[in-house]
Amino acid sequence: MTSATPPVNVADYQRIASDLLAPGPGGYYNGGAGDENTLRENVAAWSRITLRPRVCVDVGDVSTAATVLGEQLSMPILVAPTALQKMAHADGELAMARAAQATGTLMVCSTLASSSLAEIAAAAPTGPRWLQLYLCRDREVSFALVDQAVAAGATAIVVTVDAPYAGIRERDTQSGFVVPDHIDMPGVTAALGRSAGLTVEEFFSMVDPTLTWTKLEEFIAKAPLPVLVKGVQCGEDARLACDHGVAGIIVSNHGGRQLDNVAPTAEILREVVEAVSGRVEVLVDGGIRRGSDVAAALALGANAALVGRPALWGLTVGGQAGAEHVLELLRRELEVALALLGVTSPSKLTNAYVSGA
Ligand SMILES: Cc1cc2nc3c(=O)[nH]c(=O)nc-3n(C[C@H](O)[C@H](O)[C@H](O)COP(=O)(O)O)c2cc1C
Repeated sequence: MTSATPPVNVADYQRIASDLLAPGPGGYYNGGAGDENTLRENVAAWSRITLRPRVCVDVGDVSTAATVLGEQLSMPILVAPTALQKMAHADGELAMARAAQATGTLMVCSTLASSSLAEIAAAAPTGPRWLQLYLCRDREVSFALVDQAVAAGATAIVVTVDAPYAGIRERDTQSGFVVPDHIDMPGVTAALGRSAGLTVEEFFSMVDPTLTWTKLEEFIAKAPLPVLVKGVQCGEDARLACDHGVAGIIVSNHGGRQLDNVAPTAEILREVVEAVSGRVEVLVDGGIRRGSDVAAALALGANAALVGRPALWGLTVGGQAGAEHVLELLRRELEVALALLGVTSPSKLTNAYVSGA
């Protein structure tokens, strides 16, 4: 592909974005923990799932529309929370939110967003949004962020539970990556009651590494919105999450950025779905690069999938238009996958549509 050839898939966006990004931000966005085995496996594992189509089914009218935790979306593909989007593009989260709104899907806004939730809501007033939260030792800080989310019309909180400490990402050390001075995290700064910003490292030192299921349940009891947990990686924890009152579970290994050599999410999804047994909705992220990956996730029992880096690559290449194009490419790929599998909507996919189920 030459630079003059328009991107036609996520891999094209990855290549173009990686050329555009400076080494520091490029390594931060593209990198993972340790030897990056999980980072690579996340992607590879989806392609090992073999789809099992049915033919001579009326697929004259196929829709990718889906309802996820009560939100009616154009597709079961959400934008995962990713920090500091202004490093990808000057319009950062505002462009991402507009892209999600334009494609009819939901954006999960990171605690470490480089725009405030109020700014994001103003940029995309009709787009649904959730807030991703790292619970801080000082719960007042977390509840101040929740207040911002409620004021900005967020409809759920996603508590990330796989990051009591940040993973060791060597690309960042090698590149000497630091967040550029002009990019800050206004939501966190305001929640802390500060006027000057703080570093990501400073923020992670405030995250509560003593969080237990009991403490999470206490948080959920006080939270004014439904709470999902993000970062569940086995059936036992999925059951505990249900027992402690979560509204949904996101199967995730943080895109391979936390502990290396954990299983790719495609391989643990089924275990989690079986453990949950329909008590709450199950979402999944990590390595989703094609609409057919989403179809596989749905067939394995997920209600929806999220994309992190693909949306960031789109944002890097073309701001709102780039992120929007990535989301629309994935939606279209899912639509074709549904039709060719012989189903007319995402909810019709079951285990029968993957081999070896
Ligand atoms: C650059 C970057 C920043 C991220 N920041 C956050 C974050 O602030 N909070 C969070 O819960 N997850 C964060 N994640 C993880 C994503 O939400 C998601 O789990 C992951 O990107 C999914 O994998 P994928 O990038 O292969 O789609 C981040 C991921 C990346 C790549």
